[in-house]
Amino acid sequence: MTRPRLVVLVSGRGRNLRALVEAIRDGRIPAACAGVISNRAEAPALAYARAMDLPHFVLSHRAFATRAAYDAALTARLRALGADFVALAGFMRVLGDELVGEFEGRMLNIHPSLLPKYPGLDTHRRALAAGDVEHGATVHFVTRELDGGPRVIQGALKIHPQDDAETLAARVLEEIELKIYPQALAWLARGELRYGAGAAWFRGRRLDAPLSMEHLEEGFR
Ligand code: GRF
Repeated sequence: MTRPRLVVLVSGRGRNLRALVEAIRDGRIPAACAGVISNRAEAPALAYARAMDLPHFVLSHRAFATRAAYDAALTARLRALGADFVALAGFMRVLGDELVGEFEGRMLNIHPSLLPKYPGLDTHRRALAAGDVEHGATVHFVTRELDGGPRVIQGALKIHPQDDAETLAARVLEEIELKIYPQALAWLARGELRYGAGAAWFRGRRLDAPLSMEHLEEGFR
């Protein structure tokens, strides 16, 4: 049986991309990385894709007059790559309804907050400003509601008194994101994670709340 084809969309450093590619290459995610697409030519994530000999493409939003034209070009590229699944990994563009609709149930995103808290940007600073005791990250299906799709898995950690936005972001990334995202993609690639009737389903059970770090399998902890 051919492995499902995963395309990863990036804009920045590519730490999540690296974790996903490593999990694919060591067999923990039963998928093939069909390509990496960045909206920024200078993204270090793209250099990583090149170094790993992955098909990689720049789709700069500055080259398109409208959001619709950009999304049409991105959709065409995803189709050309035969994308079965799409992972947004630090991708800093909001995708339009048509593209999201075409990939609904097949597109995941990782967001650095305990959704539904802090959708949008600057999440670590907002959690600190609110005096929150804990913070974390969430993997969710991408739907038309920005950062609002059905949550799959969420990890939380305690905010330290000496934390600032940079130290907090680094701990959320290292201790949570780089674990929950490969795990979620493994479940998706195996068919254990599905989307239906506006909800996430895990091993046949509707997820009314996201899974947690306790659900991480041995190889993802
Ligand atoms: C991560 O913090 C992720 O949660 C957010 O953007 C950042 C991407 O970092 N979506 P990287 O490009 O994966 O290093």
